[in-house]
Amino acid sequence: MALSNEMVLVTGGAGFIGSNLVDLLMERGHPVMVLDNLSSGSMKNLERWMDDPSFKFIKGDIRRPLELALTPQSIGDGPPIGTIVHLAARVDVTTSFDKVHEDLEVNYLGTLNVLEHALRAGTKNMVFSSSAAVFGDTSKVPVGEDEVTAPLSPYGLNKLSSEQLMRIYSAQYGLSCKSLRFFNVYGPRQNPSNPYSGVISKFMSWALSSEPFIIYGDGSQTRDFVHVRDVAEAIYCAASSPSSGTYNIGTGKETSISDLTREVASAAGIPPRTVNMPARKGEILRSCADIGLAMEKLSWEPAIELKEGIRSTFRWFQQDRSTAKE
Ligand SMILES: NC(=O)c1ccc[n+]([C@@H]2O[C@H](COP(=O)([O-])OP(=O)(O)OC[C@H]3O[C@@H](n4cnc5c(N)ncnc54)[C@H](O)[C@@H]3O)[C@@H](O)[C@H]2O)c1
Repeated sequence: MALSNEMVLVTGGAGFIGSNLVDLLMERGHPVMVLDNLSSGSMKNLERWMDDPSFKFIKGDIRRPLELALTPQSIGDGPPIGTIVHLAARVDVTTSFDKVHEDLEVNYLGTLNVLEHALRAGTKNMVFSSSAAVFGDTSKVPVGEDEVTAPLSPYGLNKLSSEQLMRIYSAQYGLSCKSLRFFNVYGPRQNPSNPYSGVISKFMSWALSSEPFIIYGDGSQTRDFVHVRDVAEAIYCAASSPSSGTYNIGTGKETSISDLTREVASAAGIPPRTVNMPARKGEILRSCADIGLAMEKLSWEPAIELKEGIRSTFRWFQQDRSTAKE
């Protein structure tokens, strides 16, 4: 199934992954509508498309069904919404403990609102951004989709519950729902202010201000870092797939935080300077995706090697910082 020429609604499209996806969709000629409340996203990420007639932006909140309901009317006589890519979320795992109700409202009830909106608008195709956080501290590396899920945070729990909503709406109402469990996504436009998910952007921001890299624990913990362009491509492949399912989206390669400091320092042309802090409570030791299912069923595979991705991302951060100073 090729992605049709109907409108793609991207919730959270002003954010890091969302805006990179908007670039890919617009470059391929698909009309796009973004719904975002700009709580962590920015209009700057979308400025390239603001004057394009195939692009629409709506400032709205997925917690408010009425604001979601505005979307079909606001496209006037434009094409109907054929696909919804649901990325809007509170993404900070750590604060999901302090703001447990807010996390539930945005990350679970918000997903329910988006699904209900899909039913009302007659949209049959849905891609949802889940997370590796659904697994919790699994000892299995690489981890397959069928492994036990035991989230360690309200964030992970709400992602898992949202996946279950996708499954139920798919079975009950015939929607094609694809849940993608992103591992550690990095690349241009990632906000370094989130210490939990943005370790690469954080290291880059420290490299640019000549500060040492902070490592929690001994640096031997591993993550599976996947470039945002590969993630946008995975979303595109999932949106083009007719069948429902849940897929891991990573690279299948583990990188330790210590190795990562060396890669970022080398991209920045500086010697690696690190400071070790005590390990953070509840931090998992190893994380790596088995991506066999996405490769087989979605015909997707990551194309950007970590070394190359880090170098191009560093150049982007450098340029962004020098433009901000002008
Ligand atoms: N970045 C990662 O490594 C990663 C890993 C796993 C899963 N994810 C998931 O991918 C999705 C995108 O994440 P991201 O890294 O681009 O984060 P982001 O914060 O850059 O993007 C989230 C977007 O959602 C918007 N938003 C938040 N609450 C909203 C609401 N109530 N109504 C409307 N819009 C709202 C924000 O303004 C922002 O533009 C999220 O669902 C996140 O949980 C990301």
